[in-house]
Formats: sequence, structure tokens, C-alpha cells
Amino acid sequence: MNLKKIAAERAAEYIKDGMKVGLGTGSTAYFAICRLGERVRDGLQIQAVATSEASDKLAREWGIPIIPFDQIGRLDITIDGADEVDPDFNLIKGGGGALLREKIVAANSDKLIIVADGSKAVQQLGQFPLPVEVVPFASEWTFQALENLGCRPKWRMNGDERYLTDNGNLIADCQMEAIENAAELNVKLNMLPGVVDNGLFVDMADTVILAKDDGSIDER
Ligand code: 5RP
Repeated sequence: MNLKKIAAERAAEYIKDGMKVGLGTGSTAYFAICRLGERVRDGLQIQAVATSEASDKLAREWGIPIIPFDQIGRLDITIDGADEVDPDFNLIKGGGGALLREKIVAANSDKLIIVADGSKAVQQLGQFPLPVEVVPFASEWTFQALENLGCRPKWRMNGDERYLTDNGNLIADCQMEAIENAAELNVKLNMLPGVVDNGLFVDMADTVILAKDDGSIDER
């Protein structure tokens, strides 16, 4: 049983003719894009914007019309995955490195639907290392600033090289253990001059669809 697929395909049912849709990134969002691709093949009419080069490519392969962000206007629904979801629907995202475009697209959406398997539900955010997107300029200075803030950052690597996002930036994965106040940390991180954005999505998700181990869906 593929729990990610179950959750993602349930979310795809929300999409109706004429909608403008944000396409998330990652192995769960993948199934939503594929399901929407099938529905487009069967006649569903949508326009979409992708949150990563990978999702853009996948959507185009399925024949989903992709529109540049600046031309699409307000989105009706975005479907995306998450690395952690707390009881207030605050999220950690960015495990796939797409947090910046994901946050921009989510902020421009009337409704953000998060899809995941049940293992992503947590009582408190912070076990999953929080991704922070950092500009390459003065990156060691920014790294130090993250340490000073009490984060334990580690550069994300791609083999021997530092991982680069679709925006040409670095990712510092910050081990936090427990995030007591996500809203406050979100602001503090984004106040650091070299930080572009971070993977805390506070008060952004509208609906969370979790597929549980037995295949049933917890949808709130
Ligand atoms: C990518 C993300 C993903 O949505 C998140 O990492 C979850 O990924 P997956 O569905 O593969 O578990 O935020 O930047």
C-alpha cells in the first residue's frame, strides 16, 4: 500500500475545471501531479505553476499547462507535501530543497492542501532538521549567525559539493530537537541578512490529508 499515493490522489479530487493550481515538490506531491496529469489527459482544464524544476518537468511530461508564476495570478489550490505537520498545521518543509518557491506559491494560493503519510504528523516540530536557504555570498558568516541563534546547522551536500537549490542558493539543515515557538523562530531566521527563507510554514496550511498505515485517510 502506497500511503503517499493515497493521500496525494485524494487531494487531486479537489481540483476542478478552470482552476489555477500550485504543484508541490517531493515524492508525495509527485503522485498528485501524476493524478492531475491523468485527469488532464481525460479533459480536465487547469493551469498550473510548479514549485521546482523537477515538478515543472514532470507536469509538462503529463501535458499539464504550466504558466510562469508572474503571469498566472492568484492560485485556487496548491497541493504539496511536508516533512513534519504539528496539531496546529504548522509545517516543516524543504526536505526536497524547494522551500522558497513552495512558500511563495503557498502564499499566493487561496487554499494550501498538505498531503503526507501519517508518519509526518508530530506533536511538536523540530525532530526533522529545519532547512534554511542561504545565499552563497558570505555563507560562512550566515552559518555562524545560525549557530549563534542556537541552531545546529549542517550544509546540505550533493556528493562532495554543496547542494544548490533551483535558485542557486545553499541549504543549511538545522537540527533543532524541539521548536517551542515556530512563529517566532520563523521571523528570527528570516531576519538574518544572508537567509533567503526557511522551511517553517506557520499558519499557511488549510487542509491536511494524512494516509494512515491501514490506508484510511485522516482529512482535516
Ligand atoms: C520539498 C518539500 C517536500 O514537500 C517535503 O520534503 C516532503 O517530501 P516527501 O513527500 O518526498 O516526503 O518540502 O522541498
